[in-house]
Parts: sequence; C-alpha cells; structure tokens
Amino acid sequence: MTIRSFDQELRFSDKNLRLTDGYSRPKFHNVGARDWLCFRLDLFSSLTFAFSLVFLISMPKGMIDPGIAGLAVTYGLNLNMLQAMVIWNLCNVENKIISVERIFQYMRIPSEPPLVLENHKPGHDWPTQGEVDIRDLEVRYAPHMPLVLRGVTCIFPGGMKTGIVGRTGSGKSTLIQTLFRIVDPVGGQILIDGVDISTIGLHDLRSRLSIIPQDPTMFEGTLRSNLDPLGEYNDEQIWEVCVFHIAPSDVYRWACSVRHLLFLRTDSIFNTHGAHLWL
Ligand SMILES: Nc1ncnc2c1ncn2[C@@H]1O[C@H](COP(=O)(O)OP(=O)(O)O)[C@@H](O)[C@H]1O
Ligand SMILES: [Mg+2]
Repeated sequence: MTIRSFDQELRFSDKNLRLTDGYSRPKFHNVGARDWLCFRLDLFSSLTFAFSLVFLISMPKGMIDPGIAGLAVTYGLNLNMLQAMVIWNLCNVENKIISVERIFQYMRIPSEPPLVLENHKPGHDWPTQGEVDIRDLEVRYAPHMPLVLRGVTCIFPGGMKTGIVGRTGSGKSTLIQTLFRIVDPVGGQILIDGVDISTIGLHDLRSRLSIIPQDPTMFEGTLRSNLDPLGEYNDEQIWEVCVFHIAPSDVYRWACSVRHLLFLRTDSIFNTHGAHLWL
C-alpha cells in the first residue's frame, strides 16, 4: 500500500531483485565449488580404483589369493564415498571451529561493572528530586574513537520537563545512554540528586530511572512483562495506570475488552525477537 501510494513499485522491485541477486551470489559460488570438488574426488577415486584393478589383474597367478583380491575390489568400490566423507568431515571441523574462535573472542570482552555494590547503595527513595548535574562529561564509544561528548556541563533541574535539541549525530542519544551507563564516561561526572552514578551498582541505577525509547519496540515476552519488566506490581496496579493515565475515558469500554487479552492471556503475545506495538 505504502509503496503503491508513493508510486515506487519499480524502485521496490529493482531493489528486491538486486538484494536477491546479492543473496544468491555466494550461494552460487558455494554450490559451484562443491560440485567441482565432488567431480575431482570422484575422478581421483576412480583412477585409484582403476589402477588397483590393473595391478590385481597383472599380478602373476597364485601370488595373491583370489578371495582376498575380491575383498579388496569390494572395499575399493566404496572408496569414492569414504573419500568424500573424510573431506566433508574435515571441512565441517574447519567450519565449526569458528564457534570456538568466537567463544575465545567473547571471553576477551571486558564485562560490565558490577550490578549491585553493597557498600555504595543509594538511598531507598533515591532519586527524590530528579536533579541531574552533569560536570565536564566526556564520552567516547571505544578507546580508538573520537570523543562524542566533549566536556558537557549542565544542570537539569528536578521536577521539570527538559528538552534536548540538536541535529542528528550531535550526541543526544549518547547522553541518554550515558545516564544509564550503557557507555561509561571517560571523563567528568553525572550526579543525580547528589549521587555520582559511576559509584553505584548498575542495577541500582537502571532500576531507578525510566526510559521511553524512540522506536515502539516490544521485548520478547508478554505485554505484561514489557510494562513491568522487574515484576514489581500486581495486575490491578498496572491496570489502574493503563486506564487512568493512558486510555482516554471514551475508549474505556474498548480497553475493558482488551484487558482480557492483555492480562488473562499473558502467555503468547510477543514471541521470538520482540515485535512492534501499534495501537
Ligand atoms: N554504538 C556506537 N558506536 C560508535 N559510534 C556511535 C555509536 N552510536 C553513536 N555513535 C556516534 O556518536 C555520535 C552521536 O550519535 P547519537 O548520540 O546517536 O546522536 P543523536 O542521537 O543526537 O542523533 C555520532 O557521530 C555517531 O556516529
Ligand atoms: Mg538519537
């Protein structure tokens, strides 16, 4: 529908064909290489078999037991299959050993800071005001990459709605990620209500802040688990929030019917890899 309404069928089909070609190209080479290998293996085993037959026939009479010669020929018939199996297994090992390589690579990735630091726990009701004090913040995504935030200093007062404006790539998302310590700053500090967020555990920090992401992506699981990922509230409390804060009163009845869907059938709403929620 969207493609048609923008009159882009040709571009769409062109791109589709180009992508299909791109997808098939390595497959074609793969099949070609495999067939070429099989052909050469068959040729090799046939030559070996022919050579051994000639050898057996040309032996002087009585030098080799005819029974043994027959057995050798019977085994020789399987030669091409055995050879193909050996090569196949060798290739398989070579392919699968990449998994071991990948595990070694993952083992070298530095792990995240601890989730909870017992001797640096923030207060039970932290943050009370929500004042975010950013001091000379410097962030980069990797040691060899340039700084994305270069010495940002500002204060977001608590209890206020603050907007951050900037062109694409100016670092707005990076600042939010730094607040959640998805990326740790290389310099400077962020204080939320006077607590330096780099000194507390990741779980303590992330469980006290909320984020509404740009894309309406649902995580794998039920709608309920998406609304309350930490399982801290019961169905009634979540329902109250949905009805009184999200659903306008005139769709109340509609909401009642989906309530059945949301909470009573909580087992099969979002399956593999998450989904988009359109309401
Ligand atoms: N995961 C990442 N790895 C490396 N560089 C990144 C990553 N995410 C963003 N950047 C870079 O950081 C800069 C700021 O990006 P971003 O914070 O996404 O900007 P905004 O949200 O304001 O559009 C950009 O130059 C971008 O290329
Ligand atoms: Mg962004």
